[in-house]
Amino acid sequence: MQNENAVSAEMDLRDWRFSVDIERIAWAIFDREGESANSLGRRPLEELEQIVDRVEAGAKAGSIRGLVIMSGKEKGFIVGADIREFGDFKTEDQVVAGVKPVNQMLDRIENLSVPVVAAIHGVCVGGGFELVLACHYRIATRDSSTRVGFPEVKLGIFPGFNGTARSIRLAGPVAAMGAMLKGSMIRASVAKAQGFIDQLVDSKGALRWAARKAVMQKRKSKPKGGFKGLLAKWPARGFLAGKMRDETKKKVREDHYPAPFRLIELFEKFGGSYSDMKLAETEAFAPLMVSETSRNLRRVFFLSEALKAQAPKGMGWKPMRVHVIGAGTMGADIAGWCVASGLEVTLQDLSADQIAKGIKAQGKLFKKKFRTKALKDAAEARLISDPQGRGVARADVVIEAIVEKLEVKQALFKDLETKMKPDALMATNTSSLKIEDIAEPLADPGRLVGIHFFNPVAQMPLVEVVRGEQSRQTEVDKGAAFVTAIDKFPLVAKSVPGFLVNRVLAPYMMGAMARVDAGETKEKIDEAARMFGMPMGPIELADTVGLDVCAHVGQILGLGNEVTGAAKLVESGKLGKKTGEGYYVWKDGKPVKSEDARFGNGDLEKLGRELVQPLIKEAQRAVEDGVVESADLADAGVIFGTGFAPFRGGPLHYKDSMAGVEKNEPAAAAAE
Ligand code: NAI
Repeated sequence: MQNENAVSAEMDLRDWRFSVDIERIAWAIFDREGESANSLGRRPLEELEQIVDRVEAGAKAGSIRGLVIMSGKEKGFIVGADIREFGDFKTEDQVVAGVKPVNQMLDRIENLSVPVVAAIHGVCVGGGFELVLACHYRIATRDSSTRVGFPEVKLGIFPGFNGTARSIRLAGPVAAMGAMLKGSMIRASVAKAQGFIDQLVDSKGALRWAARKAVMQKRKSKPKGGFKGLLAKWPARGFLAGKMRDETKKKVREDHYPAPFRLIELFEKFGGSYSDMKLAETEAFAPLMVSETSRNLRRVFFLSEALKAQAPKGMGWKPMRVHVIGAGTMGADIAGWCVASGLEVTLQDLSADQIAKGIKAQGKLFKKKFRTKALKDAAEARLISDPQGRGVARADVVIEAIVEKLEVKQALFKDLETKMKPDALMATNTSSLKIEDIAEPLADPGRLVGIHFFNPVAQMPLVEVVRGEQSRQTEVDKGAAFVTAIDKFPLVAKSVPGFLVNRVLAPYMMGAMARVDAGETKEKIDEAARMFGMPMGPIELADTVGLDVCAHVGQILGLGNEVTGAAKLVESGKLGKKTGEGYYVWKDGKPVKSEDARFGNGDLEKLGRELVQPLIKEAQRAVEDGVVESADLADAGVIFGTGFAPFRGGPLHYKDSMAGVEKNEPAAAAAE
C-alpha cells in the first residue's frame, strides 16, 4: 500500500487521508483536522474533489479499480454539512453558487466507472448521508450508534446536495419522503429494510474487509426505482403528496415551518423525473437556506451547544451512581431518567409502597428507550429500591426531591452531609426554596446546589443548575456535568425566586389569566399563543401545570392575588387537568374547547405578540439581574425550558429582530 500520509501530503490533504493499496483499491478516509466529528465544510469538500480527480484519472489509467469512503474518527461517520458555514450565504444566488459545484462533484462520484463503496460506522446524516447516496453501494455496521437520516427540516431546510432525488430513487417516495419530513435518525437495520443501506456487518472491524469484497465483486445497489413506480405517476403522486401535507399540517404550521411543505411541493411537481427533481431541488432549497426561520433554527442549534459547553471538559469527575430521595412525581421520574441514561440509581422514600409505585411507573420509559429484553432487564436491575438509604454512601450524586418544606429539607441534608462521599454532588430539586436557606445549617454549605428538573422529566430537555450564593464553583461545574451526562441541557442560574424558567413563565401565564378575568375568551388566547409559535396556549398550560401550583409560584414571585378567576377555581377544587376541570373541562387528557370560537388571523397575530411581552420583559430583567450569564443563555433556557417558538430564535433575539419591524407597525408597537 502506498503510504497514506505521503500521498495525502502530496495531494495537500488535511481533512482526508488517501491511499491506493496493492489491489488497486483507493481508500478515502475522512478525518477532519482538529475536530472531534466530521462535518462537510468547504475545505473537506474541496479536498474530496481532489480525490475524485485522482480516482477518475486512476480509473482511466487502470491503476485504480474502486474507491472506498470511510471515516477516520473513532465514533461517527459524517454529522452533516458544516452548519457553522451556513451563515456565509446571504443571498439565494450565493446558495445556488455554493451548492452547484458540490452537486457536480457528487454526480462525478456517481458516474465513476469503478465501484464506489461507502463503509459506515456511527452517525451518517444530512450532507454526509447525501454523499453516501451518491456512492454505488453502502455497507453499515449493525452498531446501535450507526444511524442515517436527514435532520435538515429541523434546521428549516431540506436536503440540498440532491439527496431529495437520490433518496427517492433509492428507497421509493414513501420511505424517502418520510425520512426527510420527519428528520429522524434511522437505525441501520431499518435503513437496510428501506433500501438506503445495501449490506450490514457486525462490527467496525469487519467494514474494511466487506468494503474490499464489494469493490472486488463490483457490487451495485439495486434502487427501488422511486421515479419509475406507480407512486411516481400522476394522480398517485398527487394523492400521496396530499396525504403527506395533511400529516405534516397536524404537526407544524406552514407559516412557522415552511421547509416540509416546500419539500412536498417539490415531490408533487417533480417526483416523476430524477433529473428535473435534482435541478428543482436547488431552486427550492436556496430561499429556505437564507430564510429567517432557518437562521433562527440554526441559532437554536448553537444555543444548545452553548448550554452543553457550561459543563467543563476533562474535570475528572464522572457520575456513575445516583441516589434519589423522594419517590413522588419528580423523584421517581428523575431516577428513571438517570437509569435510562445508563447510570445506576438507588431510590429512597419514607414509604416503600411509594418506591415500588415509582419504579413500576418507569416501565413505560424503559420500553421506549430499550428495544431488546436484555437491555430493558439491565435497566430494571440498575433501578434499586432503597428505603434505608444505603446507597447514599456510594453515590456520586445525591438528589433530594422530597416535600417542599424548608425544615424537612434542612434536616435531611444535615444528615446526608455526614454520610455522603466527600466528592459526591449534593443537590436539591426544590422549585421555590432558596438554596442558601436549605444549606444554612450545613457544616459545608458551599456543597449544595440546585438541580431543578421540569415536569414531565422525560420530555423536558432543560435542567436548571442553581447556584446559591454559597455554592462552590466546583459543585456548580459538577452539576452541569451531571446534567450533560444524562443527556439534558444544563442552564446555570442564580438562586432567585423562580430561577429563570418559572420566573419568565409566571408573568406570561398570569397576564393571560388576567385577560380572561377581563373578559377575553380563553380559547382565543390559547390559539393566539399557538399562532405565535408556543407549543401550548398559556391557559391550557396553567390547567396542565395545576392552578394550585400556579398560585403557589405566583406567590413566591410576588404576583400573588391578581388573578381572581384562577383563585375562585382553586377555591372550588377545580385545579385543572389533574382534577378534570380548571379553566377547561378535561376529557381523555385533552381540554374541551368551544367549537364556536372563531377568530380572525390578524387579530390573533397581534394578540399573540402581546401575550408574550411579559415573558420577554422578564427574560430581559433576568439577564440584567445576572440570573443567567448572557442574553443567549436566557434565550436558550426559555426555548428549551418553555418550548418558546424555536423558529423565532428565543425571546430576546425575537425582541431585537422585531425592533425594526415595530417601527413600521404603530398599532402593535403601542400595544406592546
Ligand atoms: P411529591 O409529593 O409527589 O413527592 C414527594 C415524596 O417525598 C413523597 O413520596 C414522600 O413520601 C417523600 N418524602 C417526604 N419526606 C421525605 C423524607 N424525609 N425522606 C424520604 N422521602 C420523603 O412531590 P414532588 O412534586 O415530586 O416534588 C418534590 C420536590 O420537587 C419538591 O421540592 C418540589 O418543589 C420539586 N419540584 C416539583 C415539580 C413538580 O412539577 N411537581 C417540578 C420541579 C421541582
